[in-house]
Amino acid sequence: MSSEIGLLGLGTMGRALALNIADKGHDIAVFNRTTEVTGKFAAEAGDLAERITPCDTLESFVAAIRSPRTIILMVPAGKPVDEMIAALRPLLAPEDLLIDAGNADFHDTRRRAAEARDKGELFLGMGVSGGEDGARHGPSIMGGGPREGWDRVSSVLEAIAAKYEGTPCATWMGEDGAGHFVKTVHNGIEYADMQMIAEVYGIMRDGLGMEATEIADVFDRWNEGPLRSFLIEISGKVARTIDPETHQPLLDVILDAAGQKGTGRWTAIEALMLGAPASTIEAAVGARNLSSRLQDRKGGEAIFGPAPTRIEPAEGVLDELEQALLAGKISCYAQGFGLLSAASQEYGWDLPLDAIARVWRAGCIIRSAMLDDMAHALAVSGLTNLMFAPSFASRMTGNHGGLRATVAKAALHGLPVPALSAALAYFDTMRTSRGTANMLQGQRDYFGLHGFERLDRSGTHHGPWATNPQP
Ligand code: 6PG
Repeated sequence: MSSEIGLLGLGTMGRALALNIADKGHDIAVFNRTTEVTGKFAAEAGDLAERITPCDTLESFVAAIRSPRTIILMVPAGKPVDEMIAALRPLLAPEDLLIDAGNADFHDTRRRAAEARDKGELFLGMGVSGGEDGARHGPSIMGGGPREGWDRVSSVLEAIAAKYEGTPCATWMGEDGAGHFVKTVHNGIEYADMQMIAEVYGIMRDGLGMEATEIADVFDRWNEGPLRSFLIEISGKVARTIDPETHQPLLDVILDAAGQKGTGRWTAIEALMLGAPASTIEAAVGARNLSSRLQDRKGGEAIFGPAPTRIEPAEGVLDELEQALLAGKISCYAQGFGLLSAASQEYGWDLPLDAIARVWRAGCIIRSAMLDDMAHALAVSGLTNLMFAPSFASRMTGNHGGLRATVAKAALHGLPVPALSAALAYFDTMRTSRGTANMLQGQRDYFGLHGFERLDRSGTHHGPWATNPQP
């Protein structure tokens, strides 16, 4: 029996995606470097086993797939992808299609796409979001590479993708690294969304002295309103979970040092390289970095003493926190879409911002009630900033007060809120037509004769630094 598609790499995501593909009625050949993993996967596939062809060698794997072949790579990002492409290359025909569906660095995807183009091969780089459950039951899929490659496989991808009111969350984003770039920004936003929730959790725990279950109740309530999202939902579930060993809230026994595989960091790096403001995402990455400096933080507390974190509970404080998250989220997404737009220009992708918002409406980690509205707002041509779209401008107007009050209270009580602060600073900067960079320009010209523009006439000017009296 020849399979319609092949999947290589049976880690958590690979296994889930293969089962999803089989579940949608497609025969699939699978291969994993370790043969036992392949055998075990097929043995545990239950009813779906009849659609799955487990293969022991790369040769038999390639031979098991119908021509022109489509092969999905689900191997760890980086060198393993290059090694696998090199191993497959001699076995493939020119019309075969390779898809890297891991969390690749889009620069690697661009390089691989260029190599494939030179060799006359078809290569797609595809972002897949939704974790294991998403991969198994409906991920959000962000494709990049030659359109003809996408068109060849899009019916399978649309079948396995999450659906938002019946519309599949699988879209071609553009050439070469476009799909992986969109996934990277998704993850940067994911970091920021998570960090802002964690900051608000910190205010409830340390500022208001709330227990984990009370905090869970608040998240559950927020999940019924405009903040409705996967991340708020799971934050409520995480806060409500009891540790079976100590019988305390699990959150209270989890070490406060966050891991990271690197995609959020890539978003921040790329934003800095492109000169695209993404301060909320950068703050979230920085906060993860700082979280792992546990010993240093203990040392700091020993020197300075703990902050006087307790906030006098006042009526409406939880509403303020909800508003803070709403405004912070809009500010962050405005930055995220701004970054996508900057990259689109730099790399010549023509990224469809409204379609990106649509593909994030279901299946992915940042899915939320707000994304459908964002898709509508971003579809209007000429929009320069998501916050300026009427429906989001009114939300910012209505909620930035809560963000401001939250950041102010947190600052006064020594509760660190780096991502919320950055979101507020971005908003305040974006509503200030006369900023303070005139001082920077004065300083730059003073020490380096870099020149400045004047408000009252055109051209490049210098200050009379040498002739002005010095104190
Ligand atoms: C997703 C997730 C997924 C994963 C990342 C982030 O969209 O399904 O973003 O890709 O959670 O690997 O992990 P880190 O937090 O370790 O960077």
